[in-house]
Amino acid sequence: MSEESKPVARPPRPTYAPIITVQQHILREQRRFAGVSGEFSWLLSGITLATKLIEAKVRRAGLADILGSAGETNVQGEVQQKLDIYANEMLLNALSVRESVAMLASEENEQPLLAHGGSPHAKYIVVFDPLDGSSNIDVCGSVGTTFSILRRTTTDLDSEVSADEVLQPGSKQVAAGYVVYGPSTMLVYSAGNGAHGFTLDPAVGAFVLSHPNIRIPAYGKYYSMNEAYLDRSPAIYQEYVHRLRDGSLGRPYASRYVGSMASDIHRTLLKGGVFLYPPTADHAQGKLRLLYEANPIAFIVEQAGGSATDGHGRILDIQPTSIHQRTPLVVGGPDEMRAFAKIAAAAR
Ligand code: AHG
Ligand code: MN
Ligand code: MN
Repeated sequence: MSEESKPVARPPRPTYAPIITVQQHILREQRRFAGVSGEFSWLLSGITLATKLIEAKVRRAGLADILGSAGETNVQGEVQQKLDIYANEMLLNALSVRESVAMLASEENEQPLLAHGGSPHAKYIVVFDPLDGSSNIDVCGSVGTTFSILRRTTTDLDSEVSADEVLQPGSKQVAAGYVVYGPSTMLVYSAGNGAHGFTLDPAVGAFVLSHPNIRIPAYGKYYSMNEAYLDRSPAIYQEYVHRLRDGSLGRPYASRYVGSMASDIHRTLLKGGVFLYPPTADHAQGKLRLLYEANPIAFIVEQAGGSATDGHGRILDIQPTSIHQRTPLVVGGPDEMRAFAKIAAAAR
């Protein structure tokens, strides 16, 4: 047989299972969107890049404090930046160069920021909380990032983008997700086809699929809320929490509260249960923000078989009226949410 006509050999059976990175996963997902040719995965790669930069900084948080005392100025004469400002800038930097991004809105910026709005390629709006639970940083507790991706409300992409275009109900999210910087760093995202979890492999710097098709358990062991507010919460929340405690909802519950919503939700998603941030006498809408905290979480949890309400209706159906608006939030698995709905309905 001549050199040219040698048959091509089949690859040997692999010894190691192939890994799936978040990038590969997104590429596969975006085939479901008509007319999307790589731009969606490029956009999401901006988020994964920024969150890797944030995670690297979070991992060195204690060291940075030891090495450079707070309030110190750096060589450019700038005051040392706090982690939530750093996280915000990493996301803004990475996303503002993506041509598909028209506008960015962040917890850290009062107004939405223009990226490529008015360009024919810029069809997406990205909204985020760069660092969630940032007070945990000082005590080596876990923190997170939450994000939500929306389409522009107009099909005329050449038109000037308006700040109001971000005011869309969560049901319009194209994709959403969160990252938890805990003992390991995990990204959970959904593009409307299930919720999928990826663990950052620090040795190679890639988010690797570790939790495909997450399903929230039918019920869990824990409820998660800042119980210091219970006495100042509406009666339905008080009754619900008392009944979670006394076992009359099927089983007695224990409580867990990290104080970083992304982390508390992550436990709830994997182990079941319920997370609550109620309205209180002094904060009628609670604390959490609808657009970049409640909406992405509600989207993910619904995709995993759970649900999310503001105590009156579905979180994802709320029509926002302002970018930083707050909402009460009750989110969890089927049994816990059914019990909450029953108590809320009986009180009406
Ligand atoms: P952020 O750090 O982005 O301001 O968010 C903190 C939020 C949320 O993560 C957490 O669930 C909640 O604040 C905790 O608030 P309380 O201290 O009122 O419980
Ligand atoms: Mn937050
Ligand atoms: Mn924040």
